[in-house]
Amino acid sequence: MEIKILPSLLAADIGHLADGAKMAQDAGADGLHIDIMDPHFVPNISMGPAVVEMAKRVVDIPLSVHLMLSRPDQMISNFVEAGADSLLIHVEAECDIAVELERIREKGVRPGITLNPETPAEMILPVIDRVDEILCMTVHPGYGGQAFMSQVLPKIKQLRNFADSRSSSQIDILVDGGVDLQTAPLCAANGANVLIAGTSLYRASDMAADVAAMREKAKQSLATQTG
Ligand code: DX5
Ligand code: ZN
Repeated sequence: MEIKILPSLLAADIGHLADGAKMAQDAGADGLHIDIMDPHFVPNISMGPAVVEMAKRVVDIPLSVHLMLSRPDQMISNFVEAGADSLLIHVEAECDIAVELERIREKGVRPGITLNPETPAEMILPVIDRVDEILCMTVHPGYGGQAFMSQVLPKIKQLRNFADSRSSSQIDILVDGGVDLQTAPLCAANGANVLIAGTSLYRASDMAADVAAMREKAKQSLATQTG
């Protein structure tokens, strides 16, 4: 399974977000992760559709848009129009998740489901056949720069097993939060193939070198896992 590395724009210099987006592309990233928050779902506010629109103008890599919103249903069209290539909604959101995932797919965007650290893996089973991506949070969402929660690793493995037991086993398993050169291989060893990293990549002295190193280390762990 292919390993993908997605820098998270939340960690870029907010005064130069366009440069931050280009930096990810120039570093050889496989996509750009953009975090959208409301202060009801998480204790913070971040960016909106205008930032996704800007990123669409300045880079060609796919845009992974993470909706940390209580009511993602109210904003899905806006983010589709802004140019999202994948839309991740939370299983904890207050809307009909199955309907919204279907709506995302109908609009030609990759639908993804996300789980907070405390949410059991089984919660996504009712919608697993509707998603292309499953994002397992490895921190409590809301802020960048938090420590990786290693207690979530067994859940990543569980999600990978669920995904692989489906006939269309092309579901990506994503991790987000505290991912760096040390924790990325642990995630891959448990079956994650898309690694989202904000602070570690944007603070790196050479982002391209770290993107390549993260991909290589994760590849080796994934190979060890699958034999
Ligand atoms: C957290 C966001 C993450 C965040 C990760 O709420 O969903 O995407 O940017 O940041 P780091 O890699 O710094 O933990
Ligand atoms: Zn995110």
